[in-house]
Amino acid sequence: MTVNEKPVVHIIGMGSMGAIIAVNLLEHTQCEIVPLFRNVAKCERFVNEADSIITINKMCPGYEGENATVIQKIGRVYAPENYPKDEPIRNLIVATKTYQTQDAIRPFLPYINSETNLILVQNGLGVLEEIKEGIFAPETKQGCPQLFQGVIAHGAYQVSEFMFNHACDADFKIARLPWSHHDMVQSCELVNDDSSNNELLHLLTKPIFEKRFHVLHMTYQEMLIGQLFKFLLNSCINSVTAIVDALNEEVRDCCHATFSSIVEESISILKVVYQPLFDYEMEYNGKDGYPTLEVTKTFQLDPLVDSIIHLCCVVGGRNSTSMRQDTLNLRDTEINYINGFVVKMAERFNMGPSAAKVNKTIVQLVNLRSGLNRARAKKTQALI
Ligand SMILES: NC(=O)c1ccc[n+]([C@@H]2O[C@H](COP(=O)([O-])OP(=O)(O)OC[C@H]3O[C@@H](n4cnc5c(N)ncnc54)[C@H](OP(=O)(O)O)[C@@H]3O)[C@@H](O)[C@H]2O)c1
Repeated sequence: MTVNEKPVVHIIGMGSMGAIIAVNLLEHTQCEIVPLFRNVAKCERFVNEADSIITINKMCPGYEGENATVIQKIGRVYAPENYPKDEPIRNLIVATKTYQTQDAIRPFLPYINSETNLILVQNGLGVLEEIKEGIFAPETKQGCPQLFQGVIAHGAYQVSEFMFNHACDADFKIARLPWSHHDMVQSCELVNDDSSNNELLHLLTKPIFEKRFHVLHMTYQEMLIGQLFKFLLNSCINSVTAIVDALNEEVRDCCHATFSSIVEESISILKVVYQPLFDYEMEYNGKDGYPTLEVTKTFQLDPLVDSIIHLCCVVGGRNSTSMRQDTLNLRDTEINYINGFVVKMAERFNMGPSAAKVNKTIVQLVNLRSGLNRARAKKTQALI
């Protein structure tokens, strides 16, 4: 595959994550960014009202005054209705919410083929399985893209339609996704080959962007450790703070038992779903060409729960989680891709009716909180 030195990168999901990636790529690499909006009306608002500009306010330490606001003018934006019929998509960043993925990609399927590089930048688990069984299922005869995953620890939120605050500067782990669980273990050679020869990975690992955006390009199994850790953390803090409607620091001294129950049950299910990862130390540690991993140590229950509490409730104590914000703002939550994922997997792997009872209850309670907030808002609206 030839690597274009000024690649075109399409982005579906130009929200907080899509925008910070786009603006940083434009700042630190040579590429063209082409946002794909949901409809023509949004394209027109972007061009006519925002002068085709995406604005990022950098709120992290080290950025002050003029340095703190970055604007980037975008040359082309499209929606499904006006996308040019003769332009295949070579590189696609998908940064919608998990539950929006398939609907957002579907209109652009005619432009996606086996040479397209598609990276999912989302929290949670389950989207990969969904797209493999949905829009890219063998019976659809759709050309299947090269798939990658980004696990992003950066934090950002929307200020207005095309302006975002970049609130937390952290790492961005990226890896090639296997099409089958049998290919879960990758060699370091594959990573090196992608950095040199894959257009999207070559771009994402350009030295200045890599340094400024804290990109860590790794094997799938290395990324999966980080993804599962983040997944367990989100399974605890996102759902619990949404249910009890609290800031992270407010639950610090009373969340240990609940977090332990969630993590213990989730790990027992993840061990089955991602068995090759949990067997990895025995089979691959010390083997030439493969990274050495600390899987057992990373997923030891008590230290893991302690570090989740420390990271979420002490370091990020003032945060209000995105799931809590979603319930407060009456938006759909990503619960089916967080606690709901292990519930689904327990069923799929026939683990018995009580294998996921803690997480099932957590999902129900989050949905109860969403329903309650919506019902109260409706009642208030009726009184006005
Ligand atoms: N924000 C964070 O700090 C953060 C941190 C780590 C991970 N994440 C994860 O990253 C993912 C994205 O989160 P986010 O905060 O960036 O979400 P977001 O701000 O809600 O952005 C999602 C974007 O997707 C767009 N979209 C939805 N459906 C679409 C469609 N059919 N066609 C085109 N565009 C569509 C939305 O556009 P409309 O406005 O038109 O609906 C919106 O701009 C989530 O999985 C989240 O959990 C977020």
